[in-house]
Amino acid sequence: MELGLEGKVALITGAGSQIGFGKAIALSLAKEGCDVIINDINLEDAGKTAAEVEALGRKSMAIKADVTSSTEMENMAKEALDKFGRIDIWVNNAGACTPPRPFLEMTDADWDFDIDVNLRGVRNGTRAVLPHMISQKSGKIVNITSGAGIHGGMFTTGYAAAKAGVIGFSMGVAKEAAPSGINVNCVSPGVANTGFAKNAPPGLIENFPRTLPIGRLTEPQDIANAVVFLVSDAASDIVGQVLVVSGGVTP
Ligand SMILES: NC(=O)c1ccc[n+]([C@@H]2O[C@H](COP(=O)([O-])OP(=O)(O)OC[C@H]3O[C@@H](n4cnc5c(N)ncnc54)[C@H](O)[C@@H]3O)[C@@H](O)[C@H]2O)c1
Repeated sequence: MELGLEGKVALITGAGSQIGFGKAIALSLAKEGCDVIINDINLEDAGKTAAEVEALGRKSMAIKADVTSSTEMENMAKEALDKFGRIDIWVNNAGACTPPRPFLEMTDADWDFDIDVNLRGVRNGTRAVLPHMISQKSGKIVNITSGAGIHGGMFTTGYAAAKAGVIGFSMGVAKEAAPSGINVNCVSPGVANTGFAKNAPPGLIENFPRTLPIGRLTEPQDIANAVVFLVSDAASDIVGQVLVVSGGVTP
């Protein structure tokens, strides 16, 4: 299978977390020959991931930008284009969730946070890079959604609504972008012990594997493998799909 990733330029949002999906995606793409731009709101952490990409012999750059700001996303895309000349791959991975609580106890601020980071962030990232990809007549966008957006998230309704929105948004924009040679798809990860797990209900991370057909949590590398496939030449006929990587979780 030819992946065709050598020499491509990728940008990953939220790739600062040293135990998160974004870093695993960045390093896997670097191993396949991509230069990788690392975004996060935490510049120090983004710099650590960028250093690991460079240690693999690829070019990198850390950019601090908040995905909830369309201006910051547009400025980031410009900065990346100025330095690297093109962007072939953009992964909208940054995400966060307010602490779990019943829907009726969620404040407007909780709701806005969940929607802004997880849904507006994906829209802002996609809008920042899409004009460039349309003009170069090629590109791959992967949006990280969640099982919460497919089968619901009890006590995380704002997050679930945002992640469901990511799927609807991705399917629509995928159809608009495909004629320009651009593939937009989603990956839906299972439960993983990343930085994200700090808000998980007590006992979930310890007990969840027992409920899974595969008997283990999802690992960042599982998600990275799926993203590498979706952004490769091998997946050029895959448009507007959700690849669920979750050890057999079903609704
Ligand atoms: N871990 C899981 O169980 C799980 C399951 C399904 C989906 N997801 C999704 O996977 C994605 C990656 O999360 P993770 O599990 O690696 O968690 P993580 O907390 O380890 O990493 C998330 C990263 O996003 C960054 N970030 C947060 N808000 C940001 C913003 N406004 N702008 C830029 N960066 C921001 C954080 O600083 C962090 O580095 C998220 O979209 C999350 O919703 C996670």
